[in-house]
Amino acid sequence: MLETSVGKLRLERPGMVASGIMDETGQSMIRMLSSGAGAVVTKSIGSRPNPGHPNPTFTELKGGYINAMGLPNPGIELFGEEMAVAVKSGNIIGSIYGSSPEEFSTLAGKMEEYGAAAVELNLSCPHAKGYGIELGTDPAIVKAVVSAVKSSVSIPVWTKLTPNTHLIKNLASAVQEAGGDAVVAINTVKAMVISPQFGKPILSNKFGGLSGPAIRSIGVRAVFDIRTAVDIPIVGVGGISDWKDAAQYMMAGASAFQIGSAIGTKGIEVFENINRDLERFMKDYGYGSISDMVGVAHE
Ligand SMILES: Cc1cc2nc3c(=O)[nH]c(=O)nc-3n(C[C@H](O)[C@H](O)[C@H](O)COP(=O)(O)O)c2cc1C
Repeated sequence: MLETSVGKLRLERPGMVASGIMDETGQSMIRMLSSGAGAVVTKSIGSRPNPGHPNPTFTELKGGYINAMGLPNPGIELFGEEMAVAVKSGNIIGSIYGSSPEEFSTLAGKMEEYGAAAVELNLSCPHAKGYGIELGTDPAIVKAVVSAVKSSVSIPVWTKLTPNTHLIKNLASAVQEAGGDAVVAINTVKAMVISPQFGKPILSNKFGGLSGPAIRSIGVRAVFDIRTAVDIPIVGVGGISDWKDAAQYMMAGASAFQIGSAIGTKGIEVFENINRDLERFMKDYGYGSISDMVGVAHE
């Protein structure tokens, strides 16, 4: 009942681990796959090892988290070891970031070689200078990156978009025009917290990305808008922590969803709980499959 597909990729369960949470080692990815996730998206990986921003990089607030980790990762060469462990256990989606279409293509080729089931282009990090939203808010650049990656790999190419724009529909259209296989929405919302005692921003990077329940209705609206602009599949992410949140995203138009912050607040059981409760809801309300629910809010 919970099977779904994102284009060519079939998933036994609709919930995936979002990039950046419990997905940096082969073992943590295996653990998440066995806890009820249908797939795991890796931490975003770049060409070289990156230590990320200095601390403090993370703070909790009412309704969510703000982070400015700065994309810490071991680099694509070393990450091959983690992929080799994880891909044997299920669907691993390789998230990558770069500063040019060529760099994205090279990284995507490596992820394909490592056995990734799809690649997710992070064109949406709000706090990495020269990467992320600095590229991902211009439809022409988005199109160039997606086209380049599409011509260099044969696995599905997903593109993760930023909500920090009024052009999200144009960005999604650019992905579709470039032959992209799916759109993932949303990454974190650019935000800041100031300490009144210190009289300055808490994060070393000053601003960061807001995630968790506070951004859920922004994400649902983004998915709803994107559905009106494109026909390619959408993966919803942002503030999902229970079946009702997941159902909203699918009714807005997402074929599958991802969970990040709620793995921290609710534990890895969040996937099993959502699977159980969603199935119960679907039976009670006469939805025979996930695809019956996708986009119903538009009807
Ligand atoms: C600590 C942390 C690290 C993250 N790292 C990444 C990352 O490397 N790449 C990426 O595309 N998104 C990253 N994200 C964004 C999440 O994948 C997700 O889009 C966002 O947090 C919204 O979902 P949530 O509310 O379920 O957390 C990160 C989020 C958090 C909280």
